[in-house]
Amino acid sequence: MNDDAALARARAAVEDVHKRVGHADTGALDLIFRDARNHNKWQDRDVPEALIREAVAIAQFGPTSANGQPMRVTLVRSKEGKEKLRPVMAPANLEKTLAAPWTAIVAYDVDYWKTLPRLYPIRDMAPMFKDNPAFAEEHASRNGTLQGAYLIIALRAVGLDVGAMSGFNRKVCDETFFAGTSVRSNFIANIGYGHTDGILGPRLPRYDFKEVVTIV
Ligand SMILES: Cc1cc2nc3c(=O)[nH]c(=O)nc-3n(C[C@H](O)[C@H](O)[C@H](O)COP(=O)(O)O)c2cc1C
Repeated sequence: MNDDAALARARAAVEDVHKRVGHADTGALDLIFRDARNHNKWQDRDVPEALIREAVAIAQFGPTSANGQPMRVTLVRSKEGKEKLRPVMAPANLEKTLAAPWTAIVAYDVDYWKTLPRLYPIRDMAPMFKDNPAFAEEHASRNGTLQGAYLIIALRAVGLDVGAMSGFNRKVCDETFFAGTSVRSNFIANIGYGHTDGILGPRLPRYDFKEVVTIV
């Protein structure tokens, strides 16, 4: 098949998907990807817990290895909780974190595999992880990060804005929020309704297809 024919077939397949799912359309794609930005300034507007719950429930449908679902999320909303984040955040990320209606510590549980018999009853996977903490950490990190990305997309899909951050002290975060547990922080995300008027700079460049994709 030549390139033109392949492209025509791909377009027809995309149109077919659009017809069948109805609303995974341009508007939805704009909302979660093309118009969505990482936010740093927050409107003084409350976000109901129900909306966050809905986003978490949507994100949990995203795929994970052996359905393991290692992501754990700590939602920081209270003033006391936000104060605990003060020594955790990098200086540049502090004020916006204190100002956001909600802040999610997106983490993963390195012992997540212990619940695989419930989540993946098809086959006993636990022996692969038992006595192999490096393997468990690798899988928890990979799948927990994927779930964190699903969560960002789901939050945007329910109409919220997100400001993801790596700029924080992971050791202090884990000592403060997860001491004595098997949970490890991954990234932190502010959640709310972002200010848009003139505050966000221009969209930064993305790679071209050929710079990041190799077809072999
Ligand atoms: C995991 C992750 C960590 C990030 N860490 C920070 C951060 O610490 N501070 C910050 O201001 N922005 C942070 N960002 C935002 C990125 O810089 C931003 O998404 C990127 O420049 C693209 O901008 P856009 O999403 O508005 O197109 C982070 C984004 C992600 C996904």
